[in-house]
Amino acid sequence: QTKCIQIDNVKARKEALHEAGELIRRGEVVAFPTETVYGLGANGLDADACAKIYQAKGRPSDNPLILHVANRSMIDQIAARIPEKAEKLIAAFCPGPITLILPRKAIVPDRITGGLATVGVRMPEHDVARALIAAAGVPIAAPSANISGRPSPTTADSVLVDMEGKIPMVLDGGACDFGVESTIVDATGDKAIILRPGAITKEMLEEVLGEGSVIIDPALVGADSVPKAPGMKYTHYAPKAPLTLIEGMPTRMARAFQREVKRLQSEGHIVGVMASHEVLKELKEILPQELMADYGHQGNLPAIAANIYEALRSFDEKEADILLGEGTTSEGLGLAIMNRLHKASGFRTINA
Ligand code: TXA
Ligand code: MG
Repeated sequence: QTKCIQIDNVKARKEALHEAGELIRRGEVVAFPTETVYGLGANGLDADACAKIYQAKGRPSDNPLILHVANRSMIDQIAARIPEKAEKLIAAFCPGPITLILPRKAIVPDRITGGLATVGVRMPEHDVARALIAAAGVPIAAPSANISGRPSPTTADSVLVDMEGKIPMVLDGGACDFGVESTIVDATGDKAIILRPGAITKEMLEEVLGEGSVIIDPALVGADSVPKAPGMKYTHYAPKAPLTLIEGMPTRMARAFQREVKRLQSEGHIVGVMASHEVLKELKEILPQELMADYGHQGNLPAIAANIYEALRSFDEKEADILLGEGTTSEGLGLAIMNRLHKASGFRTINA
């Protein structure tokens, strides 16, 4: 039985954080909110505690965990050295939705770094996450709190769908602000490399490090080379029914969806659609409301990022046997959104 505690007043908050910190120190796993997605946390310096995370998620053991810290001195506890570029990124973006790849100290267990000489370090901004790290007094290892391969949870309810009975506690801090995982940046080399796009965009990184000094891991933009972030090579974020993306000009979307929905229905499929408000309103005649998931207004990238995982998950209890999703631009935050949608769809796309 998993205890889910709502953190909605000062007293509940204090008691819950005390208990959760105690559980982490005892080597147990606690799910908690961050500004990106919910995390599945354990003592990051305790290999046996972290083994429980792999177990609960069904995560391949070669996929390393990132460590969450509350302050700068905790970074120094786990990182052997902080390169100049990383130093600038810490000053500009920490706390916030960014994970930095840094050379690791021996105190970080081998089992959680997948044998790499580096460790991913993230200083979350969410006050519950920060208070939990402080209460535990140790860096907290935390992947997203989903079963491996499923969309990341951005509400406590979605955490429970995947983790009920597998972990002792979920801290419910409401819905996450950003809704996509942190930007992962390797700033140990000549150029900073984005290993996973997120809310801190390439443009924002360049503003701090200088134009031309940030590149995107080529494996993220279609090429079939192996990504540098081990986790990016797995199928991920997938809903239960297969998803196909429709990409192209926003003005042509509604027509393309009408055509594709009718075609699939004529083949006997029950079609579900995840799309913008603007597209869904043009499908009212051919698609029942319960087979639609509205991910926000067309072009409102922050809203779409915040909604995509819950929208994908909303079909898991529905009868749709095939899903269509609307692509966005790949500019700015759109790069993070399209990265997740491409993986969720296994790169199946149609041009509008
Ligand atoms: O926003 C987030 O980052 C969330 C919240 C909970 O903080 N966490 C998260 O963790 O997304 P996870 O484990 O789902 O994704 C971390 C990614 C994985 O793809 C992993 O392979 C990669 O980071 N990673 C971890 N350590 C790494 C390292 N030393 N070098 C390169 N990639 C690494
Ligand atoms: Mg994940």
